[in-house]
Amino acid sequence: MPKSTPIPEKKDLLNTLDDRILYPWQYLEYRGEDSRTIIDKSKGIYLYDQTGRQLIDGPGGMWNVNVGHGVKEIADAVYNQITKMPYASPFTESTEIAYNYASRLVKYAPGDLKRVFFTSGGSSAVDSALRFVMFYNNVRGLRDKKQIISRHDAYHGSTFLGASCSGKERDKNNFDFADNLVHHLSAPNPFKKPDDLSDEEFCDLKVKELENKILELGQDKVAAFIAEPILASGGVIVPPKGYHKKTREICTKYDVIYISDEIVTGFGRLGHIFASENYFDLEPDIILLAKGITSGYVPCGAVVISEKLMSQLDNKEKVIFSNGFTDSGHPVSMAAATATLDYIEKNNLLEHVQEVGPYFQSKLSELIDLPIVGDVRGEGLMAAVECVISKEKKDPLNLQYEIASRINSHCQNLGLIVRPLFNTCVMSPSLIITKEQIDDLVSILRKGIELATDDIKKEGLWSAS
Ligand SMILES: Cc1ncc(COP(=O)(O)O)c(C=O)c1O
Repeated sequence: MPKSTPIPEKKDLLNTLDDRILYPWQYLEYRGEDSRTIIDKSKGIYLYDQTGRQLIDGPGGMWNVNVGHGVKEIADAVYNQITKMPYASPFTESTEIAYNYASRLVKYAPGDLKRVFFTSGGSSAVDSALRFVMFYNNVRGLRDKKQIISRHDAYHGSTFLGASCSGKERDKNNFDFADNLVHHLSAPNPFKKPDDLSDEEFCDLKVKELENKILELGQDKVAAFIAEPILASGGVIVPPKGYHKKTREICTKYDVIYISDEIVTGFGRLGHIFASENYFDLEPDIILLAKGITSGYVPCGAVVISEKLMSQLDNKEKVIFSNGFTDSGHPVSMAAATATLDYIEKNNLLEHVQEVGPYFQSKLSELIDLPIVGDVRGEGLMAAVECVISKEKKDPLNLQYEIASRINSHCQNLGLIVRPLFNTCVMSPSLIITKEQIDDLVSILRKGIELATDDIKKEGLWSAS
């Protein structure tokens, strides 16, 4: 008989956990040595580690635990669905729960976006949308119209095509990408705006870049523009006012499909189920959802497609949309999604975000007085605090100092988890957060930044300039 593996002591558990699992975005150099916090339980906006220490979940999981942790109504809905009917094949059967949920969801969608294709998560939603666009053009006889335009600093997931659309330089090192299909524009980042340009001129420059790229590649070759309304994990980059509407106009002009990746901005983070239209005055052809759709309780994603596109495909002879997942419209995901929407509606969470969002942004913006903080930006309940070498030089206080990780370590000691992205601390708490809890979050973050600043000063890595 094989010898059974001994159960590790608590003190050894950390290394054991790190040893067994290859984590997403793992630095392989540190495998087995990562001092990750082991989370044991969670409630509301808080996580608790193995010692019972309470930590504010600053990133709200991965921008997904929108209704907060431990909502009994979602747990009950999931339990009831599993006991009633855990699974039915979406390839051959229908379920009322998926139909009813899709019907409810599209009531919130802009314009004629009324057809829902369910996926197993965000990346599969991105990939399905891009495959749909290619399929759509093939069916229309436009077999050369395949090129996709994305942006630097975008993140669109971890499938081959989604990762190819992502534009974060760090992630490009040792992987291969569909470079023959995907082209990147510069990020519409107002923090990087040259001083001699007005906001409007900067916006027009970015819009012109899209138009020029379409003209360079050829209108008959470009299929889609994929864009997060706010570039989330690229550092919460909020494009200049008017950018969304103007890029939409360019796409319409050149028959390019506009895919709005609302995987982060959807489901209440900006105070709306769909932010595209309500927040950015944008009516895309396709919207992608995941994360907050089930508040992270179980995996789920969705591609919401316009009837204008579908009308060109419906009832076409001998055409099969041969794309789908075992978990498309999974009954348990549908139960969690339905209960999440119920919870958002019953507790007026959209209105709550519309009220506390500006407070969250204004409290965080007070951090700009700290010497290493160069920019505080965001909308609703998503925000970034970017650290710079000096306020005048907007150069990032970056890699070599891993400043955001240092800030996160200090904040964790003080009771807050921060999402560190090199020189930027990202924050996207659960939508239920109160003003008092926002005060706690911001005061811990301030202290964490001060302590990290002291460290780098003492180590001679930084001096005020
Ligand atoms: C904007 C955006 N698109 C797509 C994805 C991929 O989603 P998933 O991790 O669920 O596959 C993410 C995940 O962070 C995201 O932020």
